Amino acid sequence: MATLALVASSCSKGPETNATPSLHEAFDGLFLIGGTLSDSMLENPSDPGYNVVAKHFNSLSPENCMKWGRMNPTPTETHYELVDSFVRYGSQNQQALVGHTLFWHSQTPDWVYQDAAGKELSREALLARMRERAELMAKRWGDEILYWDVVNESILGDGSWRKSKYQQIIGDDFTEQAFRIASETLPPHAKLLYNDYSMTDPGRRDAVVAMVKDFKSKGIRIDGIGMQGHWLMDFPDTADIAASIAAFAATGVKVHITELDIDLLGRAAFFGANVDAEKLVATPENNPYPDGNLPASEEERFAQRYQEIFEMLVQQADHIERVTFWGVSDKTNWLNNFPVRGRTNFSLLFDRNFQPKPAFYRVLETAKKR
Ligand code: G3I
Repeated sequence: MATLALVASSCSKGPETNATPSLHEAFDGLFLIGGTLSDSMLENPSDPGYNVVAKHFNSLSPENCMKWGRMNPTPTETHYELVDSFVRYGSQNQQALVGHTLFWHSQTPDWVYQDAAGKELSREALLARMRERAELMAKRWGDEILYWDVVNESILGDGSWRKSKYQQIIGDDFTEQAFRIASETLPPHAKLLYNDYSMTDPGRRDAVVAMVKDFKSKGIRIDGIGMQGHWLMDFPDTADIAASIAAFAATGVKVHITELDIDLLGRAAFFGANVDAEKLVATPENNPYPDGNLPASEEERFAQRYQEIFEMLVQQADHIERVTFWGVSDKTNWLNNFPVRGRTNFSLLFDRNFQPKPAFYRVLETAKKR
């Protein structure tokens, strides 16, 4: 740590140079630092984002290409190419790879729930189809992928099961069956995670804790809880995030912050990452910095928010295995299109030119405070 302090204080806090410390090296011994590869990056190996990815992340998630609808838009089509590229790139760079995501109510095409005649599948037939998908993943990428988001977002804020198509056909044990399938098909080194957003909602938090305890009492493998971390400038409170981390860790699993970004511009009517929410249109009121130039006072407010979050995460480091940013730079982060389409938002540690922002340096400092 003393060496790092010297390096950090002697390097300028401006654009990336060889002297800029690597984020994941700074957090070595605390937790992994991850990012994502989008489909467009995977299609363009010379994307400048790779400079950030190679230097600052030691874990990688595929932002979209592994979702069921992306891989199999129809029953007869299977797209392996982008996932193959993702796995090849991450393996070459010794990055801990995440399989995102096996089963999610969103981005799953209707054919998954239907037979060839368009009739709704039985519970057993849908479970068999889920098993086929897990077997395909295991066979092709099981050796290289370490973490799996087995189920994404199956619990609502009030703690009840989401009334998804999976839940309607399979029943309330959809998530349990998914974990049984994953543990029976993926290799022993695979770590199986449940992943969700708004994990500080007391109802969802308590239901997740109860689910992990239930799985453990039945001998069903679950290794970690993913807290998505699509957070706002003033919500949730870091004390509430810490309380959820402690509650999950108390069940004996590790916590992963799986999809971290901070929505500087905010969203008026709701909170979370519900991609089914109605999309709004950009206006001068909700899109105040369309040219991408943020006033210094806003940059500072943003840096302070990241600092307080990372100070808390470092305090909780014994419980945390990985912190993954949802994207690489502000240029392509999904919050430019959610919940308002076509906004110029500010959410990550690297700006639209892939340069470290003041928030980057503030986050770096927190690694030394342990
Ligand atoms: O690739 C097409 C492009 O060809 C087309 O021109 C364009 C028009 O809108 O759409 C492009 O696809 C979009 C894709 O992102 C790539 O930009 C899809 O419409 C859009 O639905 C998709 O959104 C992704 C979303 O998941 C839904 O899958 C976001 O990138 C991705 O960041 C987001 O990630 C999710 C996590 O998987 C789960 N947790 C919440 C998180 C945020 O919603």
